[in-house]
Amino acid sequence: MHKDLQEILLSEQEVDEIISRIAGELDRDYAGEDKRLVLVCILKGSVVFMGELMKKITIPVEIDFMRVSSYGAGTETTGSVNIILDLLRKDLDQCDLVIVEDIIDSGRTLAHLSRYLQLKGAKSVRTCTLLDKPDRREVEFEADYVGREIPDEFVVGYGLDYDEKYRALPYVGILKREVYEK
Ligand code: PRP
Repeated sequence: MHKDLQEILLSEQEVDEIISRIAGELDRDYAGEDKRLVLVCILKGSVVFMGELMKKITIPVEIDFMRVSSYGAGTETTGSVNIILDLLRKDLDQCDLVIVEDIIDSGRTLAHLSRYLQLKGAKSVRTCTLLDKPDRREVEFEADYVGREIPDEFVVGYGLDYDEKYRALPYVGILKREVYEK
C-alpha cells in the first residue's frame, strides 16, 4: 500500500469485479442493431475506469472525451461546472451516450452534463460511475450504473487524484488526513 494511504477501500480485484459487472450490464442494455453505444469519458479522473470498462464490453463501442472543471485546487468544491473540452461530433442524434465518471460527489457535474448533452441533441444519455458518495449530494442525482457506494472519505487512486498525484495507483485508497491538512 502507498505510504500516504490510511487504508485500501477497493482492492485491484474488487475494482476488476465491479467493472466486469458494469460491462455486463452495458452489454445487455445496449445490444442490438438500433443501438450505438458511445462512452463519454470525463477527463481526467475517469480515464483509468473507462480504459478498463471498454476492454470488458463485448458489443461494438465507441469512445469520446469531455473535460470539465468543478473544483479548485485541493479538496474543496466550488460548486460550478465549466466545460473546458466539449463533445465535438456532428452525429449526436444517432448516439446512445453513456457518460463515464470516476466519482459522484455533489452530483453537480453529472446533473449538468446529462442535461447539457440531452439539450445538445443526443439520441439518449445515461450515466455511469465507478464510485458514488451519496452523503455528499448537493443536487438530486442518481447514476444509471453505479460501481460502489462509498463513505465520505478522501479517496485517491484508479484515476482519482489529490493535487494531480496518486491517479496511477491500481486500487482505491483513503488518503491520510495529514497529507491534505498540512
Ligand atoms: C471530479 C470527478 C467528477 C467530479 C465529481 O473531477 O472526476 O468529474 O469531480 O464531483 P461532483 O459530483 O461534486 O460534481 P475533478 O474536478 O476533481 O477533475 P479530475 O477528474 O480532472 O480530477
